[in-house]
Amino acid sequence: MLVSAEEMLIKARDGHYGVPQFNINNLEWTKAILNACEEMKSPVILGVSMGAGKYMTGFKTVSAMVKAMVDSLGITVPVCLHLDHGTYDGAKACIEAGFSSIMFDGSSLPIDENIAKTTELVSIAKEKGISVEAEVGAIGGEEDGVVGMGECADPEQCAKIASLGVTMLAAGIGNIHGVYPANWPGLRFDVLEAVRAKTGNIPLVLHGGSGIPDDQVRKAISMGVAKVNVNTELQLSFAKATREYIEAGKDKIGKGYDPRKLLLPGYNAMIETCKDRIRCFGSDGKA
Ligand code: 13P
Repeated sequence: MLVSAEEMLIKARDGHYGVPQFNINNLEWTKAILNACEEMKSPVILGVSMGAGKYMTGFKTVSAMVKAMVDSLGITVPVCLHLDHGTYDGAKACIEAGFSSIMFDGSSLPIDENIAKTTELVSIAKEKGISVEAEVGAIGGEEDGVVGMGECADPEQCAKIASLGVTMLAAGIGNIHGVYPANWPGLRFDVLEAVRAKTGNIPLVLHGGSGIPDDQVRKAISMGVAKVNVNTELQLSFAKATREYIEAGKDKIGKGYDPRKLLLPGYNAMIETCKDRIRCFGSDGKA
């Protein structure tokens, strides 16, 4: 049973911790994340980007896989299946495919169009008990070929979008998708403060969660961030462990080329990364 993000985010906001959104790319990612969250007793949001959905052959495949895996693994923690940075059409397709949450990323649209499309999607989603994330101020860095400049959200625009009935709001506060450059100045807590002041107590979302120093993540959580998105960090830990396995020539020993052996170090590394992030966000034991 998949759940909407609403209840878990309200609990996180009130309990001053962050629910992890870990993005999935395939079966190994999904299995590692679900098992790590079950072990840590953490609620979890599985994020699926438009590109990852396409890679996995479509949102229907993803939805069927996640639902079956939650059942087969006997997962008891709350699991939300969420479209990450969705287009308008992508959001509709995910609602159709059985996702329990969607993000409509209208941050690149003129604010009036962002408002109109968000309003329509909120009314469709609400009827089905599906949570909705909206974004104001493009998150920097590169995701699925879309490059943003790390702009900061305008608090007035955040207030407008928050008032449309969305469940959670992603506001750019200098955060960037992918690896942070060495000269990155850090999160703009002044902007976060201003957004918070204008948006009441709507749970806020911190994108680009990979590589932000822990103290900054915790401070953001203490200021109203209730969901932290992590994608790159799992990709890096998977790649590192897989590279070490191959560089050590282990794929050439016995049946070391068997995908179940070849992908195991990366799978185990992702579990450790998930647990580490869950501890940082304070969501362990909260399920
Ligand atoms: P990272 O890849 O930087 O962790 O960002 C993930 C994210 O924000 C997904 O929306």
